[in-house]
Order: sequence, then C-alpha cells, then structure tokens
Amino acid sequence: MVTADHVGEGRFGLNIVVGWNEGEFEMFGVEQRGHQERYHYAQEWIDVIKMIWSDREDFDFHGKYLTMNGIRGKPKPYGDTRPLIMNAGASPTGQAFAVKNCDAFFLQASRTSLEESTQRVRRAKEAARAQGREIGCYTVGVVTCRPTKKEAEDDFHHCIVDRADWSAVDGNISPQTVPMQEYLTQRSHYAQGMGGLPIIGDPDHVAAQIADLSKAGLTGIAISLVNYLDELPYFIDEVIGRLERMGLREKVRG
Ligand SMILES: Cc1cc2nc3c(=O)[nH]c(=O)nc-3n(C[C@H](O)[C@H](O)[C@H](O)COP(=O)(O)O)c2cc1C
Repeated sequence: MVTADHVGEGRFGLNIVVGWNEGEFEMFGVEQRGHQERYHYAQEWIDVIKMIWSDREDFDFHGKYLTMNGIRGKPKPYGDTRPLIMNAGASPTGQAFAVKNCDAFFLQASRTSLEESTQRVRRAKEAARAQGREIGCYTVGVVTCRPTKKEAEDDFHHCIVDRADWSAVDGNISPQTVPMQEYLTQRSHYAQGMGGLPIIGDPDHVAAQIADLSKAGLTGIAISLVNYLDELPYFIDEVIGRLERMGLREKVRG
C-alpha cells in the first residue's frame, strides 16, 4: 500500500472490507468469521496498520487476534501523512466501524429522491460528529453517457437490463432473506451495477446529476462504465470538463 502511495504521490486510498461474499472465502479454503467478529478482527488490523504508518519504530502488538513482535514498516506513507481510508459497511456495526476508523464512508444514494440522499449523508455525518470526527461521504454510480438521451437509455437497457449477468447477480444475493418482491427489486438493482446509482443521459444530464449529488452533501463518487476503453475518453472530454466549469472538480490536466 505504501509503495502504491509513493507511486501515486499520496493519491492511494484504502477501502476496508471485512468479508462479505462467502464464495471468496471458500475459494481460499477458509471460513468466514461471524458478522460482529469480522469487525472486531478488522479493528485490530487497522490499529496495527495505522501504527505502522505512524512514525513508530520497531514495536510489538499483542491483541486478541494478532500477535506480532518487532514490527517495522518502511518507507512511511507519502508526504508525512497516511492514505485515505474508506469503508462501505451497511449494518449498524459496519457503519460504527466506518465512523470510528475511516475518513470516508460509502453510502448508497437514493434512486427515488435527492432529499433522501441528503438525509442519508446528514445522518452519516452526524454519527461521525457525535464521535468528534468529520467523515466524507461517497457513493457509487453506474454511468451511461452518450451524445443523446435516447442513445444512452438504449445502451443502458441493452447492456445492463436485457443482457444483465444474472448468474453473477444470483451468486451475490439470496432470495431467502427478504420478501419476494423486495428480492426481485434488489436483483434488478444488482444487475444494474451492484446497487450503484444508474446515471443515464447526455453529458449535460450526467454532469447535472453528479452536481445534484454534490448538493446532497456527497464528497465524491466512484463510477463504473461498461466499456472503459470506449467510454472513459468521452466521459473525460464531456463530463469532467462540465464538472470543472461548475467548480465541482479541480482542473488537473494541462
Ligand atoms: C462500493 C462498495 C465496494 C465494496 N467492495 C467490497 C469488496 O471488494 N469485497 C467485499 O468483501 N465487500 C465489499 N463491499 C461490501 C461492504 O464492505 C460491506 O461488507 C457490505 O456493504 C455489507 O455491510 P456490513 O458488512 O456492514 O454487513 C463493498 C461495498 C460497497 C458499497
């Protein structure tokens, strides 16, 4: 992580995940810890990592899960600081972990109203303030940006609705845990990019929707595209420029 932080001159960030998808554990032949215990383990882990990233020299750590002697980590992170840490916990335990340990929190933006997104951001920031901390809130978006609204909507339907990868979706969610109707909605949202907010339209619309999310109090957004090679240059040329002109993004290109 520190090597990547130096390569990126401080732009490295860590999204801590404590485990979620059972299959990922089965692949390595290990058993996933219980939900609460995952976060207890993660607490020790991040405590040690933060110590390694601090100016501590050789030290010992004796916790419930980790016993380590003569810990030494060099070089230290770039620029006498430490990488940004995020977390996307959805449960009360996961959110409490984020508020206590992280600089930023991933939350799901509402698909129905900006007001609801604004409230979700407000709640997360208030929970952090109650602990004497400030936290940035980020969300996830699935962008389909094309020269016209119709092209964007057609492409979105083709790739993410008509041709959705249902076997991948069904590997991630299970029908037993929620009522059928809720399950079908969840299943459809998952197909549209793991529950990320679909942002579909021409460049003006896409930039305006991202601007609205900023007004809701979000610090940033992680976006995904279907075909990065084709779509990223268009997104950079058309959407990033608009966001820069709106003052939502610093101009970093020459
Ligand atoms: C943007 C985003 C990325 C995530 N990436 C991963 C991941 O790579 N691996 C993983 O196990 N979980 C990942 N998760 C799942 C979360 O870390 C978290 O476990 C999940 O939202 C359930 O919340 P809970 O742990 O509080 O129950 C991700 C969640 C989001 C929203």
